[in-house]
Amino acid sequence: MSIVSRLRVQSFAISIDGYGAGPRQDLQNPLGVNGPELMEWFFHTRVWRRMQGQPDGETGVDNEMAEQGFTGIGAWILGRNMFGPVRGPWPDDSWKGWWGDEPPYHTPVFVLTHHPRPPLRMAGGTEFRFITEGIEAALAQARAAAGRRDVRVGGGVATIRQYLTARLIDELHLAIRPVLLGSGEHLLDGIDMRTLGYECVRHVAGERAIHVFLRHRA
Ligand SMILES: NC(=O)c1ccc[n+]([C@@H]2O[C@H](COP(=O)([O-])OP(=O)(O)OC[C@H]3O[C@@H](n4cnc5c(N)ncnc54)[C@H](OP(=O)(O)O)[C@@H]3O)[C@@H](O)[C@H]2O)c1
Repeated sequence: MSIVSRLRVQSFAISIDGYGAGPRQDLQNPLGVNGPELMEWFFHTRVWRRMQGQPDGETGVDNEMAEQGFTGIGAWILGRNMFGPVRGPWPDDSWKGWWGDEPPYHTPVFVLTHHPRPPLRMAGGTEFRFITEGIEAALAQARAAAGRRDVRVGGGVATIRQYLTARLIDELHLAIRPVLLGSGEHLLDGIDMRTLGYECVRHVAGERAIHVFLRHRA
């Protein structure tokens, strides 16, 4: 556990051409068309397989990187599109996320949206809380919930872009996949990371992705 709570992006996958999701997200394509190619590094890991209730899965660099992303996290922040395919006002409370009755978060999860909705308590300690007051309000509530643990911004792209532009992300771990998406949601287009104060502090080759760690110069 760190002494100061950090805001971390972990295990966020992008293509060589910089996309963090494919185009045309919907119920059949949660990650957009061809989006699953981004996550191929993660789907084989023991971390992911265990989340699926499977005993197998690969250990190695990719698995280690995925594991780190779940260590020391006291709250999560997600964008509404990552939470699900429903757009606009919520028609009812039936959509409860992609992850079944027991989502893999086990902490409060603050979901950014313009459309209010009551909190949603799930099995295993996950509670989705819908925040309509913007990124700073979500962060303040997430930090309060996390205490001395870190807050993880899970995604998606639009959410990370806002926190980066506001220089609020302390650490950003990208898993760069050797694939081209061509279109979709671009992570860094129009964002001058260098001027914002980010630098690359480490990179390591995994089995199916290159892991790159960026940090904000304090
Ligand atoms: N590559 C990876 O590792 C990875 C990881 C996670 C997710 N993803 C993928 O990323 C995609 C989602 O990314 P995305 O860029 O489309 O969307 P997103 O960041 O998940 O959500 C964007 C939506 O959240 C709401 N929102 C965001 N900022 C807000 C603010 N400041 N105030 C109020 N509401 C706000 C808005 O929804 P409303 O206005 O409709 O309420 C907005 O349209 C999905 O395909 C997901 O699977 C990829």
